[in-house]
Amino acid sequence: MPEPVVRAERLARTFRDFWGRPRVRAVRDVSFQAEPGAILGLLGPNGSGKTTTLKMLVSLIAPTSGAVRVFGRAPSDLAVKARLGYLPEETRLYPYLTPDEIIAFYGRLFDLSGRERRRRTDQLLDMVGLAHARRRPVGEFSKGMARRIGLAQALVNDPDLLVLDEPTSGLDPVGCSQVKALIRSLAQRGKTIIISSHLLADLENLCDRLLILCNGAAIEQGGVRDLLEDRRTVRLTFPGLDPDRVAPMLDALGREFNLAPEIDHPMRSLETFFLESVDRARRSQPEPSGVAAAAGVAPFLAGKGGAREDVLSKLVASPSQPAASPPPDAPTSETGAEKDAEARRAANEALRRLVK
Ligand SMILES: Nc1ncnc2c1ncn2[C@@H]1O[C@H](COP(=O)(O)OP(=O)(O)OP(=O)(O)O)[C@@H](O)[C@H]1O
Ligand SMILES: [Mg+2]
Repeated sequence: MPEPVVRAERLARTFRDFWGRPRVRAVRDVSFQAEPGAILGLLGPNGSGKTTTLKMLVSLIAPTSGAVRVFGRAPSDLAVKARLGYLPEETRLYPYLTPDEIIAFYGRLFDLSGRERRRRTDQLLDMVGLAHARRRPVGEFSKGMARRIGLAQALVNDPDLLVLDEPTSGLDPVGCSQVKALIRSLAQRGKTIIISSHLLADLENLCDRLLILCNGAAIEQGGVRDLLEDRRTVRLTFPGLDPDRVAPMLDALGREFNLAPEIDHPMRSLETFFLESVDRARRSQPEPSGVAAAAGVAPFLAGKGGAREDVLSKLVASPSQPAASPPPDAPTSETGAEKDAEARRAANEALRRLVK
């Protein structure tokens, strides 16, 4: 088992008033860890302690009690900071600087050479879709455009640990989807990512593990699949199959298990529909006034870890091609009883495979 990148043990933070009296117990005895290459999501209602927890991880505030280790060291250690990228909750950029100047400024803080700064600035601005606006002062930027610059800034040192506090806040659905895709590719390159959000859709199909906070306490944590899977319901998917052909099999299944299976057509998500529509529109309007279609991950973010299995693709993958669906050219001359028996055998076989 690799050493976790982040290990927090009974982490707590109480904010005190002017007289030193405890005012808010923002985080209470929260323990968790993040493994290399994993995406950990902190989910919780407003004021539940997500930002306070993240700030303790990046040593912006100290815990009142408990301990946090990052790469096996105290988070205040400079060697840790060199390997850390942080996107704060609020994007605060110098309004008169251009994206070029801002990324170069953060590159300087990490002591990058002029040539390397220019290389990374070019790649990062392409990646976040703002290369065309690189000479405009960021004070003019929309909220989502500024957020993208914040994200580019967090990546300038090619960090091994990325701490993102509500990275999709202010982004349109296309931006959210791009940021999620970017986070997935970074994790596949071995980077560890801790991300907070109060938007369920942001984290549901992104994270490997979830930590749910409420009033400063961890109320749930675990693998996304373990937390979300409904083990009482089994779903069979028959892509492209006429419902009439599935009906006899469902009848057989219903009789076998004394249940009433449901049949319908799955709906595309609004996100998929929206992304496809915008993509079509953008192809016919090549001149962007806001954000352009973003390029892929900046090549310099090469990652040091090996590629890991994409847990997400496993989560969203449809069940293995069901053996229950009859081949399209199956003979149609069977009697009703034979067909029924055949369908029942196939359905049972498929079910056995599914529940194995
Ligand atoms: N510097 C501070 N001084 C006093 N109280 C604070 C401070 N920072 C945070 N708090 C309090 O700690 C609690 C947790 O705040 P935190 O910002 O961590 O929540 P959050 O989960 O990030 O919420 P949101 O979803 O709104 O961003 C809140 O009650 C907040 O008022
Ligand atoms: Mg917050």
